[in-house]
Amino acid sequence: MNTQPNQTVVVLDFGGQYKELIARRVRECGVHSQILSGNTPLETLREIAPIGVILTGGPHSVYDETSPHTVKELFELGIPVLGICYGMQLMAYTLGGVVRSCAVSEFGAIPCRYDDPDCKIFKGLDPNAVTLMSHNDYVDVLPKGFRRVAHTADCPTAAMCDEDRRLYAVQFHPEVERTQQGTQLLRNFLYNVCGAKGDYNINDVIQRQIGLIREQVGTHNVVLGLSGGVDSSVCAAILERAIPNQLTCIFVDHGMMRKNEGDEIERAFAGKSLNFIRVDAKERFLSKLKGVTEPEKKRKIIGEEFVRVFEEESGKFAGSFLAQGTIYPDVVESGLTTGAVIKSHHNVGGLPKDTKFIGLVEPLRYLFKDEVRALGRRLGLDEALVARQPFPGPGLAVRCIGEITVERLDILRDADYIFREELAKADLHYDQFFAVLTDMRTVGVMGDGRTYNYVLALRAVITSDFMTCEYAHIPYSVLDVVSSRIVNEVKGVSRVVYDVTGKPPATIEWE
Ligand code: XMP
Repeated sequence: MNTQPNQTVVVLDFGGQYKELIARRVRECGVHSQILSGNTPLETLREIAPIGVILTGGPHSVYDETSPHTVKELFELGIPVLGICYGMQLMAYTLGGVVRSCAVSEFGAIPCRYDDPDCKIFKGLDPNAVTLMSHNDYVDVLPKGFRRVAHTADCPTAAMCDEDRRLYAVQFHPEVERTQQGTQLLRNFLYNVCGAKGDYNINDVIQRQIGLIREQVGTHNVVLGLSGGVDSSVCAAILERAIPNQLTCIFVDHGMMRKNEGDEIERAFAGKSLNFIRVDAKERFLSKLKGVTEPEKKRKIIGEEFVRVFEEESGKFAGSFLAQGTIYPDVVESGLTTGAVIKSHHNVGGLPKDTKFIGLVEPLRYLFKDEVRALGRRLGLDEALVARQPFPGPGLAVRCIGEITVERLDILRDADYIFREELAKADLHYDQFFAVLTDMRTVGVMGDGRTYNYVLALRAVITSDFMTCEYAHIPYSVLDVVSSRIVNEVKGVSRVVYDVTGKPPATIEWE
């Protein structure tokens, strides 16, 4: 169902890794988008009545037995369609064209020539573009009514169209940054072909969500688990705006937050028109973790204890709604829109069966992360909260290698604080950066005396999706200051090292 009154573009997913990126780009162009499975029935599409459909890429060949297919009626709905990569091959194959293996496969940034500057999707674009290609097959024989409108040195059909039927297809990926003017091409499709009005913007989203929350909740109370992360913070802010004085936020302080963080979260939310409860559960968590060094065991203990504490506290609010900061990628990755489970998120399965809550409120369920941040800014949340780097649920427990004690957590907190402070002073912004206290001790010398203290590691990474990353090339001058300050100011550290590993082969966190 289309839950938006806006014009909508449906992104049909055929297994492409960039489906979310396509949907985000469409929204950046001011048009609402929705990701659906490639085998969505035509009836559903008719109900949604999108202004356009985009077919994603995918890892298959149209001739594989198990490859996802579509029906030719999709192209007879009178709705403009843009096929991307596999989506292009699928369009050609379904409409009677011939797809073949490339003599030379194309992977990476490939120069491409747009041969027809009058083709509506190429209007105003430089005809010589660098495009991101990633394909082993190509469209050799075009379906009836189509013409070739772009080529590369090795691919004669880099784009094709049938403008009468408003069907377009590109072999390259316009959604990625490496394709020059790719967003402009998508914008052309939306505005020149689909007749987009550009009626999707974050202010409307706020107003609409406020209306929906009020309608759903009525005079009931709402309970939200607030971690201080971007999603739960923005969720709290919009709920407060919609139903002031009906919201209780429960912040479970497990004692493994960064320096001053618990107090910062309290400062940001206490005193507003909501009931803010900070549960000091530090002792509880620490006693459960005593003597535990195995990373997975740490995570499990923290996860279980968290649920227990939250249930105890929220149990006092029986008959309320439960709010969650679920966002669109959680829903998409859990396969709820496409049928393909990438990883199941604990927070998208709906209410547990034996719950005391009467329903679930998820005001961010249809938003991407950057939209959530934009919404937070509009709602007046502090930039520090809105731009906050990701922080794992188990907190510093997974950055404190070996046993977790108050003393070791304090060493880690102080070192981490210095690292963050110096990066801020140097105006260096990385996607994620933190300190890790190892369980290794080494010999040092300070003031003519021998020391035998911990090795502390620093990690800073550059990434856009957190699935892969590169380590950040922090200038030596900054590392010098950080290292010198940490060994001098933090008792218990004898040596500072910098992690120069990407992901893969490493992960971002050390545990
Ligand atoms: P890895 O270490 O798997 O981390 O490369 C990828 C991203 O996920 C974050 N992360 C977690 N987030 N609970 C979370 O909420 C966790 O248990 C957890 N472990 C890793 C990590 O900080 C990085 O941004």
